[in-house]
Amino acid sequence: MDVIEEAARRRTFAIISHPDAGKTTLTEKFLLYGGALTAGAGSVKAREGRRSATSDWMELEQQRGISITSTVLQFPYRDCVVNLLDTPGHRDFSEDTYRVLAAADAAVMVLDAAKGIEPQTLKLFEVCRARGLPLLTFINKWDRPGRDALELLDEIEAQIGVTPGPVTWPVGIAGDFRGVVDRRSGDFVRFTRVARGATEAPEEIVEPARAADEEGQAWGQATEELALLEGVGADYDEELFLGGELSPTFFGSALTNFGVRLLLDAVIDLAPSPSAHEDESGKPVPLDRSFSGFVFKVQANMDRSHRDRIAYLRVCSGRFERGMVVTHEPTDKPFATKYAHSVFGQSRETVEEAWPGDVVGLVNATDVRVGDTLYEGEHVRYPTIPSFAPEHFAVARVRDTGRFKQFRRGIAQLDEEGVVQVLRDPDLGDQAPMLAAVGPMQFDVAIHRLEHEFGAPTELSTTGYTVARRTDQASAPTLRAMRGVDVLSRADGTMLAIFESRYWLDRLVDEQPDLTLEPLVAGELAG
Ligand code: G4P
Repeated sequence: MDVIEEAARRRTFAIISHPDAGKTTLTEKFLLYGGALTAGAGSVKAREGRRSATSDWMELEQQRGISITSTVLQFPYRDCVVNLLDTPGHRDFSEDTYRVLAAADAAVMVLDAAKGIEPQTLKLFEVCRARGLPLLTFINKWDRPGRDALELLDEIEAQIGVTPGPVTWPVGIAGDFRGVVDRRSGDFVRFTRVARGATEAPEEIVEPARAADEEGQAWGQATEELALLEGVGADYDEELFLGGELSPTFFGSALTNFGVRLLLDAVIDLAPSPSAHEDESGKPVPLDRSFSGFVFKVQANMDRSHRDRIAYLRVCSGRFERGMVVTHEPTDKPFATKYAHSVFGQSRETVEEAWPGDVVGLVNATDVRVGDTLYEGEHVRYPTIPSFAPEHFAVARVRDTGRFKQFRRGIAQLDEEGVVQVLRDPDLGDQAPMLAAVGPMQFDVAIHRLEHEFGAPTELSTTGYTVARRTDQASAPTLRAMRGVDVLSRADGTMLAIFESRYWLDRLVDEQPDLTLEPLVAGELAG
């Protein structure tokens, strides 16, 4: 019974956005409202604190001023436990983000009111949509000049095919933000600014008649727009939300804390608590069976002084208790959980127990890889986390052959963590592996880590390959004989045919149907 109750209290979600839309600021404000940041710390300070506490572990990040790592933040709010999965914030397409989404039960999409949906992140939102992940939308930065609210809603609908269902509506155009109408009650919630957004923004509930008196023109415009919304029936609908078809939409300003509480309350009230996860065969695994979970992320060297490796596990069923011995599904070997941590940014605490929806950091889980299942009791295996088909390919060579051993070790580690995919030519062995990535930023991270972490300065030669397909032994010789095609193997044994030209690939598929050339990823994620 405990398991069911504890699971019902959990809300496990990720915030996704285009860089600069305000994800970091919103995360920080959630922590403020959750009491996990000391009030009065000052937003800028708190934000720097968070940045250095969570993800400044990599010089590359500092150089570029981006956040590449992702972390988990857990805090209590009302009678719930919030697990906020932080997704990497760089501009590039990153497989990491998709893995994090596999561990989330919902997502909050943050948009900049002046920019709307930006092309680079469109794919990320489409993925949420394709996977039916419940999506809440926060239109941020309403405190400064931006676009028209109705126009932004149209854009969401047109671009990602999810219907925005405004729960709140702004009073005052962007740049003159007074508050929001809570469409559920019809009340006007007036916000008051506090210096530097360092404490919660005071809210005053104002009756419509008084609001009309006091807010004049701004109120008039809001009521006109609200009437329009009534006309199109853009209302909240639980079933559509849970199916990922309708996104409850909120307006606010993370910087000034306007609308933050309403959004966080909505995460608690609307976002689903953990439910039975499906196993590999699609059968739901009951929440109250013995412990089980899967690893969605592996990260090495978060803590320089320790040189360790953390596997992040999302608990799917049962109670996790530190010290329990579980089974590592892929190897069928016992796995001791003595070194289990809850990871809040970079600071860690030993975790004694965890429940469905929680994330546990397993320290020095050497043989554990992304996608692996860990369980107690009866066997269970969760589906592998879908990956995107790589679109960038580059050959890696160690610059100093005396460092080859380090190079090989580093490449193996990056492959295991999924920083890049590593493809090998069976005849060439490990000398010059082909690195494959969804976004070129993955290469930068790989090169940086090979040099600084493994002591293996590496050079990369980019290639003209742009697309990969799964193939087999029978088709390999024919494909290898063609120009602009290569056949390589992944560590898991999968053979990949890589092509310079997508056009050529399409022609081959048409003209030589006997060749095995399958798309790499499940249809929903095909790149
Ligand atoms: P990200 O994590 O999505 O990349 O965005 P982040 O929170 O870092 O915010 C990007 C910039 O937008 C920051 O300004 C931040 O202060 C600002 N911002 C976030 N939310 C709001 C908002 O509601 N209103 C306004 N006006 N600005 C907002 P910066 O100048 O890059 O950084 P800083 O000097 O403020 O730290």
